[in-house]
Amino acid sequence: ELPSTYDGPVTFAIIGGTGLYNLPNLKPVARLTVSTPWGFPSSPITISVTEKGFPVAFLARHGQAHDLLPTDVPARANIAALKSLGVTAVVAFSAVGSLQQEIKPRDFVVPTQIIDRTKGNRPLTFFEKGFVAHAMFGEPFDLKLNRLIRDHIPKTGFLEAEDKKGVVPVLHTKPDDRGAEDLTVICMEGPQFSTRAESKIYRSWGGSVINMSVLPEAKLAREAELAYQMICMSTDYDSWNEDEEPVTVETIVGNLNANSANACKLAAALIEIVSEHGKDLGAELKGSMKFSVSTANH
Ligand code: ADE
Repeated sequence: ELPSTYDGPVTFAIIGGTGLYNLPNLKPVARLTVSTPWGFPSSPITISVTEKGFPVAFLARHGQAHDLLPTDVPARANIAALKSLGVTAVVAFSAVGSLQQEIKPRDFVVPTQIIDRTKGNRPLTFFEKGFVAHAMFGEPFDLKLNRLIRDHIPKTGFLEAEDKKGVVPVLHTKPDDRGAEDLTVICMEGPQFSTRAESKIYRSWGGSVINMSVLPEAKLAREAELAYQMICMSTDYDSWNEDEEPVTVETIVGNLNANSANACKLAAALIEIVSEHGKDLGAELKGSMKFSVSTANH
């Protein structure tokens, strides 16, 4: 039984996606049930500490027992709950399909752009009922977090678990800050996967990977002035790739297991990096929404 309260702020949070339901390599010190004006988050929030005592919050996006469809994830409560703990930076993991040959199952991708293909039935803003605000979203992820990952985690050799053919997973990051090199995640509604025709359209749009979870999470994080970066874990080639053998359950389970082991390793490394180099994460977002509220009717 862990304590249900934690004293003091927690500035860094990890959101776990499919296959990542806890951080077994950290020491849990509290398990919080947080209530927000938008209801309860997907799961209780576990606070863990590193050996040096740096606290981290962990939230399982689909619930501890994976009982929430992407459409039903209470994203506003999730982001509001993390904000209420004092969080300023979030790294969110998500299982994705690959839209590019060079992004193999078990590879990780740190995206820099998003294309919204959700269907408009997810609550997507904190600003309602008389508040009108427009958040900047041209750069949807946090560049500082993106650079911390790019500069500190090796592209090859860090992620483990070679597949049956001896192929080793790769971490794909944008090589520099230029727009031409963007890695784009398509966010679809689901829960069904895409048709082959849709999958090919997403490729023609420049999509790198596809998931059902980056939105509205990333938008809400921006409205809450949190630095936010997603890390995508590739599980499959989606349906465009007619050259791939049809996926079996065995392959997918193997990929999910490999991905969650790698996600835990990456999360642990990132927590160390953020505790050392991430002091001012989110600082430039602080107060950014103040100037975007065009009517405050309160
Ligand atoms: N999550 C994992 N694989 C996916 C795919 N092919 N499409 C959408 N979301 C996914």
